[in-house]
Amino acid sequence: PFPWYKNMREKHPVYYDSKQGVWNVFLYEDAKRVISDKDAFSSKKSKELPLQNITNIDPPDHTRLRSLVSKAFTPKIVANWEPRIQDFTKGLLDQISKKNTIDIVEDLAYPLPVMVIAELLGIPTSDRNQFKEWSNSLVAGPSSTEDIQETINQKNKATSELKEYFSHIIQEKRKKSLEDIISVLIQAEENEGKLSAEELLSFCIVLLVAGNETTTNLISNAVYSFVENKTVWETLKQDPTLIPNAVEETLRYRSPVQVLPRRVKMDTEISGYKLTSGQLVFAWIGSANRDENKFSNPEYFDLKRNPNDHLTFGKGIHFCLGAPLARLEAKIALSELIKRYSTISIKEGYQIDPIESSFMNGLKSLPVIVE
Ligand code: HEM
Repeated sequence: PFPWYKNMREKHPVYYDSKQGVWNVFLYEDAKRVISDKDAFSSKKSKELPLQNITNIDPPDHTRLRSLVSKAFTPKIVANWEPRIQDFTKGLLDQISKKNTIDIVEDLAYPLPVMVIAELLGIPTSDRNQFKEWSNSLVAGPSSTEDIQETINQKNKATSELKEYFSHIIQEKRKKSLEDIISVLIQAEENEGKLSAEELLSFCIVLLVAGNETTTNLISNAVYSFVENKTVWETLKQDPTLIPNAVEETLRYRSPVQVLPRRVKMDTEISGYKLTSGQLVFAWIGSANRDENKFSNPEYFDLKRNPNDHLTFGKGIHFCLGAPLARLEAKIALSELIKRYSTISIKEGYQIDPIESSFMNGLKSLPVIVE
């Protein structure tokens, strides 16, 4: 998508697609405003949503819900999870350490986030596969226009199965006093009464949808960037303290989420264009992250980039709640790889196979040779 973004930034930085009836913004400052100006742009994207959740509501509902659920995601709590994430990562890599070809996606980037979120939510490990299937159905986009109805049906089916699944889990957990995220939120619901049972249920589902594929793509996009540019791997091997920088630069350079939608709430202007209430706007954060006006040498993967004010986790009131967790998972996964292997390279003749979506950036698989 990157050459297209560049072209749009130069020629049509604010573009109305009359066929789709959607505004598209490609520049950093415009995208940042669309996603963070909550008075002019609403997160309620459509009227018939299968699920009302934290990502698609506006203040004051959002403010109340966010302040409750953020209690389960403070940096201190997230840091406590580090040893568990490390164990999972080591366990996954131990299983593959006998081969010298590994598929970064299948062997590491795909299983790790789902193991972590299952652990944090306190759901049985045996349910993980089913969990992943639901999550995939919910994030899948239609591959063609004819598939749209089929995709919607699948999403509705997964949503109702997930609701049933979590209702059962929540019921079970009410009887016990545990420390996982769901139990913490149940206590908020029971003690303070500020969180409705419906909100609790949809929040569980959001965690599953928001955190899995995005983190998978972050880890595989990072390794992709390393095999593409050998000096990055060598530098990180020499100085592992740069790994968090590598994570940040991957977030900017190959953002797992490429675009965030909003609905115009009141008539407004962007760079002289008039947008009217009710219209849909796509903020292309994947393009904003490579805007020459904001980043110097944006098409270059710069390990030492500072500042690196990318928009990959959003901006403002909806800023990604899972950002500290995603960063931690990626840091641990990359650190373990770098510790274990002295070289990494892409399997000879392998053609990079990106996932087919204009909303997400990631790889279907990434077979690499490690030594
Ligand atoms: C929101 C990206 C991982 C939970 C968001 C938003 C973005 C984003 C862009 C803002 C959406 C908007 O403004 O409309 C990512 C990326 C991730 C990631 C790129 C991985 C690299 C996670 C993880 C979790 C999570 C691991 C939880 C376990 C959430 C939640 C929200 C959110 C709950 C909604 C916050 C709100 O609306 O107030 N994420 N996310 N995310 N993310 Fe993430």
